[in-house]
Amino acid sequence: MCGIIGCVGRGDETLDTLVHGLAKLEYRGYDSAGVALATDTVDVCKKSGKIDDLRAALESRTLSGPVGIGHTRWSTHGPPTDENAHPHRDCRGEVAVVHNGIIENYQSLRDELASAGHEFRSDTDTEVVPHLIEDALADGANPETAVREAIARLEGSYAVAVVIAGVDAIFAARNDSPLVLGIDDGEEGTGDAPGGAYYLASDVPAFRDHTDRVVYLDDGEFARLSSRGWRVTTLDGEPVEKAVDTVDWDPEETGKSGYDHFMLKEIHEQPRALRQCLRGRVDELSGTVDLGDLGDLTPRAVQFVACGTSYHAAIYAAQLFEEAGIPAKAYLASEYASKTPPIGDALVIGVTQSGETADTLSALREARRRGARTLAVTNTVGSTAARECDHTLYIRAGPEIGVAATKTFASQLAALNLLSLSVTSVSDSRDVIAGLRELPGAVQEILDDSNAEAVAETYGDAGAYFFIGRGLHYPVALEGALKMKEITYKHAEGFAAGELKHGPLALVTENTPVFAVVTGDDEMARKTIGNVKEVEARDAPVVAVTDGQSDVERYADHVLRVPDTHRRIAAVVANVQLQLVAYHTAAQLDRSIDKPRNLAKSVTVE
Ligand code: F6R
Repeated sequence: MCGIIGCVGRGDETLDTLVHGLAKLEYRGYDSAGVALATDTVDVCKKSGKIDDLRAALESRTLSGPVGIGHTRWSTHGPPTDENAHPHRDCRGEVAVVHNGIIENYQSLRDELASAGHEFRSDTDTEVVPHLIEDALADGANPETAVREAIARLEGSYAVAVVIAGVDAIFAARNDSPLVLGIDDGEEGTGDAPGGAYYLASDVPAFRDHTDRVVYLDDGEFARLSSRGWRVTTLDGEPVEKAVDTVDWDPEETGKSGYDHFMLKEIHEQPRALRQCLRGRVDELSGTVDLGDLGDLTPRAVQFVACGTSYHAAIYAAQLFEEAGIPAKAYLASEYASKTPPIGDALVIGVTQSGETADTLSALREARRRGARTLAVTNTVGSTAARECDHTLYIRAGPEIGVAATKTFASQLAALNLLSLSVTSVSDSRDVIAGLRELPGAVQEILDDSNAEAVAETYGDAGAYFFIGRGLHYPVALEGALKMKEITYKHAEGFAAGELKHGPLALVTENTPVFAVVTGDDEMARKTIGNVKEVEARDAPVVAVTDGQSDVERYADHVLRVPDTHRRIAAVVANVQLQLVAYHTAAQLDRSIDKPRNLAKSVTVE
């Protein structure tokens, strides 16, 4: 999704700060990039393609100025061309705007502006904004009022940042798209700090190298940043008191630390992420879990809303709650409103690592409209989900840069286990807690000794990949397939193992390896082994992900071994092997692993 950066107070380093910030936002996914710097004029440089293309274009330009904004664009209106890249300017070239989100009434605004004589150079919805500001300035409004008036006319979702020729300030506003301010040397709440440097961005990594003090903007808020300080008001100009928070992670955490890709680094960070998730929350002796100030939840029923990988975590969690006798269902967030499931006393839980996914936020808002209590299970402190929900449970995975979710999925499963233990009565809670304690070590064992790379080499040119599992391994099968398709661009599907024979078996050939997740040696394992035999009989290669408890290996061409753990934990460790297979398959194919085509890290449009 689009990424925004802005800075003021960096003097000659403004341009470098912007480009560096854009590089830090690359993980969000983008197809073009640009910057605008304001002095008495506004200079813009923008290019389709990668940030290196923008850097190359900047080599032949002299852009300077004490205040600037930058943008990475993920196309929604119009293809990724230089013209459609942000920033966009007004007719006179004195106003530059970057935007993340979708302006729903842009067509009527554009028609109105065009018939008043404004000339448009792009296909984007965003371009109406500088022209609206131009009109307001021409009508005599001061710069800040002109921006407010223009923004008041927008419908839809936006995070917008604006610079204007001759004005030593950035103006910004948000509605339904994230925006965070970075404060260097500012005094809390006053915004009165001569000589300070101030930033704004879609996400903290964009300016984390410069400051750890942040202010999260809320919907309907407007910010003004200048070299003299910062101020937040409502769109109507009413002052808003904002807290300055401190982010507690190190900028180093957003580097690759010697790994070829962020995804591989993040796969290897899972033991640490899991330890962080569990730290201080479990008491093995008493078999209890303490989730701090989560409050009194005791739900009679639970509805999960989530997308993609987080939805797979939600399916897993729904089963944990069901097993504990609490009716629970996982909904795809984008389908939730259309299904209008009855809420009753249900607690609605949004599972979202970013806390900014538009579909999930929209489902949570729908749940609140219908009177439900809401809980965000998220990785991102200060995210919209965290701020809007009644309760928040942090998964504490640390920053995840690779577009494909890995460590956050593992941490979601761990955190959802903790949640289920804290609000339901689980008969073998001591065993689960002991399993959770062993989980980081079990993941480390896999990382130290996985043969996933060899398996990936064997099946690198397969026609398609299938993944099967039952019960808690069903979401693991779905997740294994999602990871494979997103980073290899090859066809991959996950199935409930028993469903294979009801249709998908027709797809199975000697060129379609089937990854079967089978742990333990219970009835469920035996049934999955029956499905493995069906596959084997059709000559498909079988890769068993197993703890060696059952005899599935007899029917498998390859084995990806996982430690023998509690059944709940087995799903988490089995997934690590599938992450590694997907990673090594994509590496062999030389794919853009951290930024797969067409995908974005934080999907802020519905
Ligand atoms: C897949 C992936 C996506 C996200 C989905 C929801 O690897 O990362 O499927 O899981 O876009 O994102 P969050 O969890 O931020 O709501």
